[in-house]
Amino acid sequence: MSSISVTRVQQSRLDSIDFDNLPFGRTFSDHMFVSEYSDGEWKNDRIEPFGHFTMHPASMVLHYGQAIFEGMKASKHQDGTPLLMRPEQHAQRLNRSAERMMMPAFPEERFLRAVNELVAMDAGWIPPAEGWALYIRPYMYATDEFIGVRPSQTYRFCIFTGPVGPYYAEPVSLLVEQNYVRAVPGGTGEAKAAGNYAGSLRPAYEAQQKGFDQVMWMGGKDMMEVNEVGTMNIFFVIGDEVITPQTDGAILKGITRDCFLTILKDKGIKATSRTITIDEVAEAYDKGELKEIFGAGTAAVVSHVAKLQYGDKSMVLPPVADRKIGNMLKAHLNALRSGKAADPHGWMVPAVSAEVTA
Ligand code: COI
Repeated sequence: MSSISVTRVQQSRLDSIDFDNLPFGRTFSDHMFVSEYSDGEWKNDRIEPFGHFTMHPASMVLHYGQAIFEGMKASKHQDGTPLLMRPEQHAQRLNRSAERMMMPAFPEERFLRAVNELVAMDAGWIPPAEGWALYIRPYMYATDEFIGVRPSQTYRFCIFTGPVGPYYAEPVSLLVEQNYVRAVPGGTGEAKAAGNYAGSLRPAYEAQQKGFDQVMWMGGKDMMEVNEVGTMNIFFVIGDEVITPQTDGAILKGITRDCFLTILKDKGIKATSRTITIDEVAEAYDKGELKEIFGAGTAAVVSHVAKLQYGDKSMVLPPVADRKIGNMLKAHLNALRSGKAADPHGWMVPAVSAEVTA
């Protein structure tokens, strides 16, 4: 097995961080993991001080967007142990994304080792408050210096981390989007491909110009089937059923989504992964049966929806304090992350350092 060489920072920046003021995604920890792919193999696995990369102007990622990423979180058990949640799921999803984008897999065992080493080394960067976390960003991009269209033959894989607070601090308002589309079955929607997020920016901007926070992505025949929301999977609570759209190739197979379906089933709550149309949602609203809508994702965990706009119809959801399911799921996930809830599925694993070559 390849070893990870380690170069530590001379002076940690940790003391300069204000843990009470952490906007999402702007603060980065001391170290990062890097590996490079050439001649058919990943080489030179290393942990080094967080810093810049230089880039050739013809670097293929800049032109054709061969880039994928993951989002994961590390938290602290109440006894102080750094914890990862289902890291192997992220390794496997990264490699499914890589396959779709004609990129090389990064071996799962090396991915797990790298995340463990990095998080163990920068464990002091895990914010202490419950609900806050060390966000982990693994990503891979094409580095061939070439502007013909073909898969790159060289890549860089990197993992950096940074302490984060909540992604959406407030409940969000959504606009049902039936003109722009995020993804279609057979496209790249199931991959965490960077380009999926670039394509979402114009629709999100236009929704924001109209006074909404994000869009609800639609798909299927006549754009009537709900797909996702913003950068998250979506859940509805209608009567006593919790519904999330089934994955169909266009929808990201969210790991938080999967956790929520499992937790709900464990608690004996009816949770269904199935097609749901916007008409069904609107009808449930008219009957007073639409109790909750929320987004689910690693970054946001649960993002409550305050309002949904479908054409001329405004659906205003009950106050967040009255919502049972989204609040319960968020509290349960946070309790798992701090070791306060039982973990029957073994999702939480300590981040530990194996021997590294210094
Ligand atoms: C996550 O939930 O971790 C994501 O990948 C969303 C990200 C674009 C902030």
